[in-house]
Amino acid sequence: MNVPDRNMALELVRATEAAAMSAGRWMGRGDKNAVDRAAVNAMRYMLNTVSMDGVVVIGEGEKDQAPMLFNGEKLGLGCEPKVDIAVDPVDGTTLTALGRPNAVSVVAVAESGTLYSPKHIFYMNKIATGPEAGDVIDIELSATENIKRVAKAKRKAVEDVTVVVLDRPRHEELIGEIRSLGARIKLIPDGDVAGALMTCKEDSGVDLLLGIGGSPEAVISACAIKCIGGNFQCKLWPRNEEERVRCLELGMDVDKVLYIDDLVRSDNVFFAATGVTDGELLKGVRYGGEAIFTHSLVMRSKSGTVRYVEAIHKSRKLYEISGVDYRTSQI
Ligand code: FBP
Repeated sequence: MNVPDRNMALELVRATEAAAMSAGRWMGRGDKNAVDRAAVNAMRYMLNTVSMDGVVVIGEGEKDQAPMLFNGEKLGLGCEPKVDIAVDPVDGTTLTALGRPNAVSVVAVAESGTLYSPKHIFYMNKIATGPEAGDVIDIELSATENIKRVAKAKRKAVEDVTVVVLDRPRHEELIGEIRSLGARIKLIPDGDVAGALMTCKEDSGVDLLLGIGGSPEAVISACAIKCIGGNFQCKLWPRNEEERVRCLELGMDVDKVLYIDDLVRSDNVFFAATGVTDGELLKGVRYGGEAIFTHSLVMRSKSGTVRYVEAIHKSRKLYEISGVDYRTSQI
């Protein structure tokens, strides 16, 4: 296996910065597809400049037919190392289109053949928490039991535990259960990658993520948590009988718990995220005339290094050398 020995995350962050700067131009303009298109184009352009022979294993957009980096797409300069790529040019396209917080651009890379492919399954049931309670969560247990365990591990009362949940009708029962237990809920309209990562950030005030969200986002969250520390588990969540039967045909066990090491088998995973809109995790893109300001998270599991990168970009100079025009929302 060709093990990448340089910190590729430092190159990947250029791609998430580019995607965020392009997508951020569309903040609040009500056009979700334009957000995605801008991010996808910029990210594809930048990832193609990275020294790697990459294949997109976790692409984006298939669920809602949005513009995407498609599964199987080759990216990079075509030289070693051979890698699997997981991308979400914007997790939170609607958040961006509506000017809401916590939209991020994310990419993860690991050795070839090490990222889990959810195939036709669009959704997973997920649980995530930070390092303090990482050893006590278990997706097979009830929300109540998990919240109690997290409270105990974090030496706080159940009422002090904050659970992040996607605001969806499918979570009605889950939300009712958490409420009757007396724990706090942070309902998010979108963006459960940021939600999962918040549970691992000490000062975010979020302890646990529970509920059903996108499968690509599950694999990306696992990559991120493998780097930052914490725990993540999930299970395939077929939407209907047809998807369930297809799982059986493909030998995918819908009852199996998928742990971080099932989702990303490599111990050398690279992760970068850049804020598109302001959020608990990262600041969003700021446009200041000639300068554009970005805030990113850059991590590598092997070294355990977590970097926060604040960058100032000169849009005119970048246009002259890079081929991506960040000066306007023209795409
Ligand atoms: P996109 O911005 O890529 O569309 O994803 C947003 C998101 O909220 C994810 O964070 C989440 O995993 C998924 O969509 C949930 O799917 P759905 O909106 O169909 O419930």
